[in-house]
Amino acid sequence: MTNNEKTRVIKIFDTTLRDGEQSPGCSMNLPEKVEVARRLEKLGVDIMEAGFPASSPGDLESVKTIAGIIKDCTVAGLCRCVEKDIDAAREALAQAVHPRIHLFLATSPIHLEYKLKMTPEQVLEQAVSSVKYAKKCCAEVEFSAEDASRSDPDFLCRVFAAVIDAGATTVNVPDTTGYAMPEEFAALIRYVKAHTVNIERARISVHVHNDLGLAVANSLAAVAAGADQVECTINGIGERAGNASLEELVMALRVRKDYWGVDTRIDTTQIYAASRLVTQVTGVKVQPNKAIVGENAFAHEAGIHQHGVLANRATYEIMTPESIGIPKNRMVLGKHSGRHAFEDRLKDMGLNLDAKTQEAVFTQFKLLADKKKVVSDRDIEALVMGATATVPETYRIDYWVITIGSALGATSTIRLKDKDDLLHEESATGDGPINAAFKAINQIIQKDLDLEIFELGAITGGITAQGESTVKIGWEGRRWNGRGVSTDIVESAIKAYIAAINAMEWELSAGSR
Ligand code: KIV
Ligand code: ZN
Repeated sequence: MTNNEKTRVIKIFDTTLRDGEQSPGCSMNLPEKVEVARRLEKLGVDIMEAGFPASSPGDLESVKTIAGIIKDCTVAGLCRCVEKDIDAAREALAQAVHPRIHLFLATSPIHLEYKLKMTPEQVLEQAVSSVKYAKKCCAEVEFSAEDASRSDPDFLCRVFAAVIDAGATTVNVPDTTGYAMPEEFAALIRYVKAHTVNIERARISVHVHNDLGLAVANSLAAVAAGADQVECTINGIGERAGNASLEELVMALRVRKDYWGVDTRIDTTQIYAASRLVTQVTGVKVQPNKAIVGENAFAHEAGIHQHGVLANRATYEIMTPESIGIPKNRMVLGKHSGRHAFEDRLKDMGLNLDAKTQEAVFTQFKLLADKKKVVSDRDIEALVMGATATVPETYRIDYWVITIGSALGATSTIRLKDKDDLLHEESATGDGPINAAFKAINQIIQKDLDLEIFELGAITGGITAQGESTVKIGWEGRRWNGRGVSTDIVESAIKAYIAAINAMEWELSAGSR
C-alpha cells in the first residue's frame, strides 16, 4: 500500500447485548445494559446490537431505552423474518439517531429441513419480503443468512443478490456453529464477493462463533478476503463457546496493522474498562490467561522474561498494557487518600461519573478504607458498580445474625427494610450459614426461589480481600442475577441474593409501572 492510499476501516458490530446476553449466565438487567451500551459508545463501536425486541417485553424495553440514549453509533435490533418482529424493532428503534434492523433467516439444508421446514424458494421469498417490509421503516437493513458456512454457496449468493435488490445494505455471513476453518471461510467470502451480482451495493459482514476456538482467526481471514464488518462481543461472550472476542480482533488488527493493512474506529484505551464492566455485570469472569484482558496477559513470571522486560518491555510485550487502558502502577489508595487522589484514580480507570454518583462512591470508599488498609482498583470498580448499574431497592439489609458450629448447623435471623421502610424479620435453620440466610429471606419475600448458581470469591488476593458473591435465582421459569460485595463473605452472599430479588421484583412490577 502506498502512503496515498487510504487505510480500509473495518466496521465493528458489537453484539454483547444480544448474542452475548442471551448466552448462559450472561443475562443483564436494564440499568446494566444501559451502562454497557454507554461504554460501547465510548469504546467507539460502529454498531451495537441492543437486543431482540420481539423476544420479550423486557428486551423491547431495553432496546427502546438504549436507542433513546446512544447518539454516536448505530443501534440495531434483531428480528426473525416475520412482520411482528419487524414491527417490534420499529417501535424499539423509533428514537434511535442511527437505527438498523437486523433480519436473520437460515439458508443451510439442515436448518431448512429440520428447523424451518421450508424449501429454498420459500426461504428466498420470505427473506425478500421481510427486507422490503423492514426497508419501509428503516434505511439500514442487515440480512443474516444463518448457518451460512454450511449453506450451498450458490444459494447463498442468490439470496444475497435478492435481498440487496430488496434494499439490504449489509449482508452477513455467519458461521453460526463455529464449524468453518479460516482458509475455507475466507474462500467463502471471496466466493460471495465474486458471485453475488450486485454485491458492490452492500457491505459484507461476518459473525463467527467459537466452537472450535477459531472465531477470531476466521473473522480475520474474512477481513483479509474482503469482509468490511465483523460482529463480536466483549470478552467473547455469546451462545455456547461464545462469539469472536472484540478485544482480540481489534488488537490483532491494530498491533499487526502492518500485516492486515486495515484499521477500526475503536479507542483501544477503553478496552480494559469495557471488559471489566462486562465481567462485573454478568458475573462471568475471563480466564486468567485470556488474550488482551486476562489477569496474566501482561504478567511476566519467568526470571529470564522479567529480566528482559525490565531492560526493554518490547522483549516480551507486543503491546503495552496502557494501549488497552490498564492503568499504570500508581500510588496505593487507603484511608489517608483524599478526594483528589480518588478522583484521579477514577479518571485513570476510565470511570467518568456524574458529581452525585462520584460523591456517593467517595463516601463508600472512605468507609471501605477504614476497614481495609489498601483499596484496590477492583474494590473501586465494585463500589462504582454498586452505585450505578442497579435497579431500585425493593429490599435492603437492615440487620443479620447467624450462629454456626460444627455440631449445631446454622441458624439465621435476617431483617430487611422494604421500599416503604417497613421492617420484615424471619429466622431459619440450615446446613450452613448461606443456606440458613437464604431460607430466612425466602420466608420474608414469601417465594420459594430456586438458587441456580451461587459463586463466592475474593475480589483481590490477600487476607483483607473483600468477598464477592454472584447468584442466579429462578422463579416460575424466569431467572435473575445478583452480585454482592462486602468485607464479610456471608454478607456478600446475602447482598447478592437481595440484589437478584430486587432485579426480579423490579421486572415483575414492570407491568404496573
Ligand atoms: O449465530 C448466528 O447465526 C446469529 C445470527 C442471528 C446472526 O447470531
Ligand atoms: Zn450468533
